[in-house]
Amino acid sequence: MKPVLDRLQRPLGAVRISVTDRCNLRCRYCMPEDDYAWLPRASLLSFEEVTRLTGVFAQLGAGKIRLTGGEPLLRRDLDRLIAMVKVLTGVREVALTTNGLLLAPLAAALKAAGLDRITISLDTLHAERMTAFAKSSRHADVVAGIDAALAAGFTGIKLNTVVVRGYNDDEIVPIARFARSRGIEPRFIEYMDVGGATRWRSEEVFSRGEVIAVLERAFGPAESVSRIGDRHAPAERVRFGDGLVAGVIASTTAPFCRDCDRARVTADGTLFVCLYAEHGVDLREPLRQGATDAELAGLVTRTWEARTDRGAEARVAMGDRGILVPLEGLRADPRREMHVRGG
Ligand code: GTP
Ligand code: 5AD
Ligand code: SF4
Repeated sequence: MKPVLDRLQRPLGAVRISVTDRCNLRCRYCMPEDDYAWLPRASLLSFEEVTRLTGVFAQLGAGKIRLTGGEPLLRRDLDRLIAMVKVLTGVREVALTTNGLLLAPLAAALKAAGLDRITISLDTLHAERMTAFAKSSRHADVVAGIDAALAAGFTGIKLNTVVVRGYNDDEIVPIARFARSRGIEPRFIEYMDVGGATRWRSEEVFSRGEVIAVLERAFGPAESVSRIGDRHAPAERVRFGDGLVAGVIASTTAPFCRDCDRARVTADGTLFVCLYAEHGVDLREPLRQGATDAELAGLVTRTWEARTDRGAEARVAMGDRGILVPLEGLRADPRREMHVRGG
């Protein structure tokens, strides 16, 4: 099959599908405000609609599917959706990014439904820090979720840590040890100034270089094993002297837009071709008006072929900068939020 290429010759290879904009955490780098404008309920895609769109993407070459949120496990019976998507022609992999809060009781069912991989967010090993930073006292549930995923037989689990200076930069080594002791790959993510990050300040960004320096002091010299297996993946993988392998996602200081193969679909069926894109393309209305798969595929193809976005690189090029979208802008158009775009 010929890949669908954008204007910078980047293939459409993966799709991140947000199944809900709701979240049961309030991480300060993502959802720091007291209240949010939510997507109207009637606009949320049903499982059948998500499955149709996923099938269209998969047939166009985007067979790498990641379900995201908000928090995707807030969507009831998510295992049913996974089973529906998993059997579609062209789907190579179905993965999930979750904050882990609800994972413990669901892990076995997700595995049984055919979920291939799980990435779990964990920003701190200290319960009281999570209370302060993410407004939740359920730290133990996240750890139980991680252990339940292991017990359910998931392999290739990744742990996502957004490093924020002054909050958890002292936990890089303990989190790496925590992950390694469970056979999980830790990944350290730079704090990004995406829509929704209304408290972002460049001083709070703990850079890729700083993360690697901290890890080198504890685990020995770093050697990049780079984006092994998938040059389109945002994480650079680094092996340290004593064998630790960690991922680093340098979205802020060294973005990777030139290799980005990801489309995103929000829970209301809006297609975004970049995390930073100003406008999306509505797939829901055509879907609900009875468009055929071929018509939907045509719409996705035309949108991808027109793509020139390099959102994160464009932000770097701006140099010294403020927040991306002011609060009023987010209230007027919640689709600009990171938690609506699926992280
Ligand atoms: P795999 O490559 O399949 O492991 O998935 P992933 O790393 O894309 O998934 P995950 O949901 O764990 O995303 C990790 C982090 O990468 C997110 O928190 C974002 O910070 C960052 N990220 C994901 N997609 C993009 C993107 O399109 N652009 C940028 N700049 N950052 C992204
Ligand atoms: N900067 C970096 N990563 C972020 N995420 C959410 N907001 C931000 C931000 N401002 C991450 C979460 C999770 C993923 C889905 O998105 O930590 O790992
Ligand atoms: Fe935190 Fe993810 Fe929820 Fe955002 S969507 S508040 S990153 S758990």
